[in-house]
Amino acid sequence: MVSTRNKFSSKFGFIAAAAGSAVGLGNIWKFPFEVGKNGGAAFLLLYLLFCFVLCYPLLITEIAIGRNAQKSPVGAFKAIHHPKWTFMGILGVLAGVLILSFYTIVTAWVFGYFVEMLLGNFRVGDQFSEFIQDIEMIGGYSLFILAVVAFIVSRGVTRGIEKASKILMPVLIFILFFLITYSLTLDNALEGIKFYLVPDFSRINVEVIYRALGQAFFSLSLGMGILITYGSYLKKKEDIVFSGAVITLADIAIAFLAGLMIFPIVFSQNLSTDGGAGLIFITMPGIFATMAPGWGIFIGSLFFLLLAFAAITSIISLLELPVSYLVDQHEIKRDNAVWIAAGIVFLLSIPSLLGSGYSAYFTQFITYYGSEVPIDFMTFLTDVSSNTLLPFVGLLTSLFTVYVWKRKKLFQELNHGSENFSSSWLSKYVGFCLQFIAPAVLAVTFVVTILEIFFGVQLFS
Ligand code: TRP
Repeated sequence: MVSTRNKFSSKFGFIAAAAGSAVGLGNIWKFPFEVGKNGGAAFLLLYLLFCFVLCYPLLITEIAIGRNAQKSPVGAFKAIHHPKWTFMGILGVLAGVLILSFYTIVTAWVFGYFVEMLLGNFRVGDQFSEFIQDIEMIGGYSLFILAVVAFIVSRGVTRGIEKASKILMPVLIFILFFLITYSLTLDNALEGIKFYLVPDFSRINVEVIYRALGQAFFSLSLGMGILITYGSYLKKKEDIVFSGAVITLADIAIAFLAGLMIFPIVFSQNLSTDGGAGLIFITMPGIFATMAPGWGIFIGSLFFLLLAFAAITSIISLLELPVSYLVDQHEIKRDNAVWIAAGIVFLLSIPSLLGSGYSAYFTQFITYYGSEVPIDFMTFLTDVSSNTLLPFVGLLTSLFTVYVWKRKKLFQELNHGSENFSSSWLSKYVGFCLQFIAPAVLAVTFVVTILEIFFGVQLFS
């Protein structure tokens, strides 16, 4: 069957779009603060382990499912096999919309900081919490961002998604390197590096494992069907095994670099590593303020601008999911689907907007069992969507591939573009991972965390 689906125009275009989806706030905003909150190097180590051992095989599997079915997730599971499995696609769409609802708010913070920097206002330290309570401003920014993304997504795959990613990604990497060089020269930089790179294994517990796993999924845009969708736009001659490795490595590298940039700064300014969602907003302006005035404004605004761009390429992919669902399954016109999805996301983002101090109810939304500190709506949403739903869909994907679709078909699909894959050691590992490692690790983490964190059953501590 000759497909008429819009395709990525080149291998680089696909890699840029998929890496653009993967590299985002997850790497530069979320990763450093999760490392800071969850034990430094020990968390880093777990994260790396999950990325390589577990997530890479799942990543190429998702892409292969998409290319094979030529459909976005909900349709892909239908097309490949049992309609029963479509709920997996639906779970993915749901997770995506939930993630997007807080992701746009954080992007609005980033954008707001960009504007403040341009104006020469270094909002150092505490001013962050004041800033995010200005809900009209943040709400306005988030509306603006959604409109920009909706415009890009409505232009379609090659002209919109691919083009934006190709330009923005390389510039971001350049500025990161610049800032790392700067931060390594600060006093106390070494303390930061130690915290980041020398593991203290006593910090590892169920919650840290749970968060590291969720972070690996979130950062690689895995478990939601984004990669199924992107895979469906991929030509048969492209090498999924190789592209997948590039995407994984690029994503890990950028997260790693972001940590290398942040922790020397945290220690040189005597800040707490436990800064949570505010970490980059508290640390980075402080560093820009110490540069020569013109420079500080220049580098500072560039930093937040690029972060906003990185976020936008990720939002594009997050929005593409509900859009391709509406287009493929409900035959809604692409243009209309984009605006419907963006509108829903905006409405759903309101609790996250209010939960940053403005409304006490959403700021102290829930207190987990065994903890005294209530968490805000956004953190709760991350736990539900990224830390729980994504690995759960990942678990289902591995089971689906092994028992329903069958490994042979997966390998056949991967052989297109990577001729000898099915006879390589890597294919043996991928098969083993999908059948044993992924189900075991994901199922155990899923059950244990649900019981421990959400229901207060003490299994291990
Ligand atoms: N991976 C992106 C980041 O690190 C966020 C993201 C984009 C995402 N698309 C996704 C997360 C799909 C999970 C699923 O910022």
